[in-house]
Amino acid sequence: MLVFLEIHIEFESMKAKTKIKIILIILIIFSGFCKEKQNSQIQIKEIDQDAPEEIKSTLDIFDQFFNNLKNELVKAIQEKGFSGAISVCKIKSPELENTFSATNNKKIYRISDKYRNPKHKPTEDEYQVLQYWIKKLNENQPLKPVYYQIGDKTKVLKPIKIIGDMCLKCHGDYSQIDPDVKEILKKEYPEDKAIGYKLNDLRGAFVAEF
Ligand code: HEC
Repeated sequence: MLVFLEIHIEFESMKAKTKIKIILIILIIFSGFCKEKQNSQIQIKEIDQDAPEEIKSTLDIFDQFFNNLKNELVKAIQEKGFSGAISVCKIKSPELENTFSATNNKKIYRISDKYRNPKHKPTEDEYQVLQYWIKKLNENQPLKPVYYQIGDKTKVLKPIKIIGDMCLKCHGDYSQIDPDVKEILKKEYPEDKAIGYKLNDLRGAFVAEF
């Protein structure tokens, strides 16, 4: 209100042309705000029996993707130990993302608010979903996969939780991580945020975009 009043007073002593210019600038700024608000509002829907088939079948893709990742990880740990498995993770996980995206005709990837690989930084809408789940987690409610529209795209997200001690060997508290693992993490991921987790924490999400 005060701003408007001040602008109004200033208007009195201005030429008509300048006034129109200022009004236009204010209008542009306001329309920008409105647009941003529209873009950032997503309607998060939990996936239940009534969800469209294509949405439900995406969950099977996530299961396959997860199993593949887990198999590669377990194999790498058995062969090279936890520190050796890191570089396998670094090469294999983007490879698997690409293969799964190509074969399913959907962009398949993972995100985390505390990402290790900066490529997994969530977008604004994905971040909203993580917040939605964190709220549920605090209320002791189960975390369900969700979907929503963003522009002309559909996104499906499924939570990834810290499911076992194995995860903690590379994502747990600093004190839980072996020195050689720490060293390699530091070298491969100097900006690493993905540590300090506890069992059952929300680690991130699988995402499908189509
Ligand atoms: C051997 C160490 C290791 C173990 C064990 C491990 N991770 Fe990771 N994790 C990594 C590395 C390295 C990356 C980064 C991969 C990349 O560059 O794409 C990663 C990335 C991730 C990401 C993607 C988001 C991000 O931070 O980049 C998720 C989600 C994730 N891990 C979850 C888990 C879960 C859940 C478990 C347990 C089932 C687990 N990890 C076990 C090393 C590990």
